[in-house]
Amino acid sequence: MDGNGRWAKKRGLPRTAGHKAGATTFRKISRYCSDIGIRYLTLYAFSTENWNRPPEEVNTLMRYFREYLQEALRDFRDDTIILRFIGDISAFPEDIQALMKENQELSSVRDGMVLNLAMNYGGRAEIVHAAKLIGQRIARGELSPSEIDDKLISDHLYTAGQPDPDFIIRPSGEHRTSNFLLWQSAYAEYYIDDVLWPDYTEKDLKRALLEYSKRNRRFGGV
Ligand code: IPE
Ligand code: MG
Repeated sequence: MDGNGRWAKKRGLPRTAGHKAGATTFRKISRYCSDIGIRYLTLYAFSTENWNRPPEEVNTLMRYFREYLQEALRDFRDDTIILRFIGDISAFPEDIQALMKENQELSSVRDGMVLNLAMNYGGRAEIVHAAKLIGQRIARGELSPSEIDDKLISDHLYTAGQPDPDFIIRPSGEHRTSNFLLWQSAYAEYYIDDVLWPDYTEKDLKRALLEYSKRNRRFGGV
């Protein structure tokens, strides 16, 4: 979800106004994905690098996270969406961590779309984390180095047990991965959209999905 700041700047508004508009788009698009039968949706909400932003901006983002997490608990008792958090959530304020855990636990019994929210997430940090877990298991004698393979590494990522992404959409026109799902995206199809995230609509997503349906995925074969 990129382009909130530029969206606000274009309108002469503070960056935080862009995050507010982006939060509305987030609710709309995640709901839409669930409605059309997407099974797994991962949204990049906050990166390991985003802590370097001015404190006022970080605090505002925390406020919006808190609001969404409270709302998800309060209003969505009958929801079908399974909420998961990928990233090192221990860096968030205690109350936000508690809200994340509660949402994750309560929604785990549902059977709908899995919505992964990447929070304090970085693809490299995720791989480092997996390497540490694997190293610890080797040190405990549970595992031998010769048993390390692709699957074992996947099984120690935050997304363990989930399929790799088929399709990654990057809004706001940037042509870079920005540390998103580095391991998992090996064969993902990319789609760059110039639309800034707060302006992103169901129609934009439909257009992207239509293009995806025409791609010829070869996974290194012919
Ligand atoms: C939202 O967009 C991403 C978040 C960290 C929430 P940005 O805040 O990165 O917007 P730009 O890139 O400055 O336009
Ligand atoms: Mg950005």
